Amino acid sequence: MGAGFELQEKELTPQEIKNLQRKIRRLVEEKNAVILAHYYQRPEVQDIADFIGDSLELSRKAATTDADIIVFCGVRFMCETAKILSPHKKVLHPNPESGCPMADMVRADQVRDLRRKYPDAEFVAYINTTADVKAEVDICVTSANAPKIIKKLKSKKIVFLPDQALGEWISRQVPDKEFILWKGFCPPHFEFTAREVSKLKEKYPDAKVAVHPECHPKVIELADFVGSTSQIIKYATSVESRKVIVITEVGLKYTLQKINPYKEYIFPESMNYCGTVYCCTMKGITLPKVYETVKNETNEVLLPPDIMERARKPIEKMLAMS
Ligand code: 13P
Ligand code: SF4
Repeated sequence: MGAGFELQEKELTPQEIKNLQRKIRRLVEEKNAVILAHYYQRPEVQDIADFIGDSLELSRKAATTDADIIVFCGVRFMCETAKILSPHKKVLHPNPESGCPMADMVRADQVRDLRRKYPDAEFVAYINTTADVKAEVDICVTSANAPKIIKKLKSKKIVFLPDQALGEWISRQVPDKEFILWKGFCPPHFEFTAREVSKLKEKYPDAKVAVHPECHPKVIELADFVGSTSQIIKYATSVESRKVIVITEVGLKYTLQKINPYKEYIFPESMNYCGTVYCCTMKGITLPKVYETVKNETNEVLLPPDIMERARKPIEKMLAMS
């Protein structure tokens, strides 16, 4: 696959991968389904997707698709967002175990407690939250639109959750507001250190540095560019420099190489909490799981109607403002 890391399922030969991909695509056409995938998905899963995007683009796509079935290759909060935006469609998640550890760092009852503590604040949730949490907030944001949207909010006081690093990055761009930040974090992104990035900069002095805002503020300080996965793709593939140090989940390398193979994309190699260089829950979506899910229409994402109703408002507000 040329992505520089082991992503293939060991038991599958290249021919078996091709066969499975062909079978999945045939089923998708027959069933008027659509496969949406995040950039952190395995290359062989990205290759069968109808659409690949960042969290904002995927939400937009989920809201506007005319397919009957959405097969979402991403983590649970992304599937929930798709279901909330397309409640009458069947949304299937090929691996229901694939959650986002950061999204699970804040619960709805904790948000309700904070509401009592800060009654005059506007509550902003990163899209990486559960549907229960979204149901308690005023608006959602993604890393692609957060500063732009928060600047437009009326309140001077913002409670932002759950990603502290993203919250700090936003607060620096919106200095006239007071931020109360939840102390959540993305385990894979938080593992990258300023020391490691400085070493890469020393090794590749003419490289530009693109960083995802879920990284530690000290890592962000070293960046030439900070943005969501899609924004990093645009920057890294078009910036003049031939070498780009990319500080985000290594799944992005596959897309970068496809778009502009003439550049060198350097990713850090530090191990994270699950002993890998990648987000292990994102990689929990495998081709055999996608195949079984599409074939049998299993792993349907279902949410209580009242939660969907309440969680839809902050997401739709975000889509309208971004
Ligand atoms: P974006 O693709 O929106 O930048 O999000 C990154 C991420 O960590 C998704 O879980
Ligand atoms: Fe969650 Fe981080 Fe994995 Fe994204 S990369 S799904 S934020 S743990």
